[in-house]
Amino acid sequence: MSSLLKRLSAQLAESPLLRTGKSLWERNQTDWNLPLSKAQKLAAGLYIILRDHADGRFPPTFQDQQKAYQAEIDYNSNLPGLTPDSVMDANLRKPFWGQRIMERHLQDFCRLAGDLRRLGVAPGSRLLELGCGMGWMAEFFALLRYDVTGTSIAPGDIQAARSRASTLAARGLAVRLDFRVGPMESVHEVVADLPPFDAVFVYEALHHAFDWGQGLDASFRCLRPGGWFLLASEPNRVHTAVSYRVARLSNTHEIGFARGALLRRLRSAGFRDIRVLRHRLGLGVRTHWLAARRPA
Ligand SMILES: C[S@@+](CC[C@H](N)C(=O)[O-])C[C@H]1O[C@@H](n2cnc3c(N)ncnc32)[C@H](O)[C@@H]1O
Repeated sequence: MSSLLKRLSAQLAESPLLRTGKSLWERNQTDWNLPLSKAQKLAAGLYIILRDHADGRFPPTFQDQQKAYQAEIDYNSNLPGLTPDSVMDANLRKPFWGQRIMERHLQDFCRLAGDLRRLGVAPGSRLLELGCGMGWMAEFFALLRYDVTGTSIAPGDIQAARSRASTLAARGLAVRLDFRVGPMESVHEVVADLPPFDAVFVYEALHHAFDWGQGLDASFRCLRPGGWFLLASEPNRVHTAVSYRVARLSNTHEIGFARGALLRRLRSAGFRDIRVLRHRLGLGVRTHWLAARRPA
């Protein structure tokens, strides 16, 4: 059955139906910024999914942790047609990208800040961020007077993120903002010398982890009893297919989560009082926003 499906995928991929998708994918491989309409993204994405399915590469599985980690570390220097400097420039401007993306990120930040408040994690509390990228959200929380530690697997991220902290210091702002390099799967070791945190959050990064379940286990260990874990804007199941083209271009992996799997894994990590913060009716496509508590 599976070899029949693979043959079908190969035939479809090479059919006239996906000729445009194939040629867009070929051009996209040397040009990350290739302007693509939604329909063109769909065509190129569908082509490479079918092609890789035929070759046994889709759906993606990840066996080699070191390779997966290295791919994430190299991400910013590995985007076809983009220089590391231009990627750095874009990331240091985040979230001030195009109007729609900016609005979405700023709204998400406000949502997360509101969630923390409602859960009783007030400014002054100690926050740990997983997969912080170049640190825009950690910076915003520090400006809100939280005591923030941001972490990422990529040393390049952390170097850039630290420049945010020094810029704030140069402006004379007494913020508590620190960044550390390390994988979220063992983040408890990365912050082992620090007191436990009042909350740990991850925004649009858990789906990049090599082993997201281990990321939850490690987060649990970083929290004080009664502390909260917040998972914000993590993609739903369809993301595995939607993001496949982009993940393939950068040689990294991205997956989407089923809510049931997240809830089960949070429980087995030891979390209780697990709450769906929004998109209760996710319909398999909307992002996950969850909170879960380490029992007091
Ligand atoms: C899509 S970016 C999101 C970054 C950030 N949350 C933001 O909003 O800009 C994903 C981030 O997760 C980091 N990452 C990927 N795998 C990781 C892992 N296993 N442990 C820690 N960070 C990881 C990447 O280096 C990157 O910084």
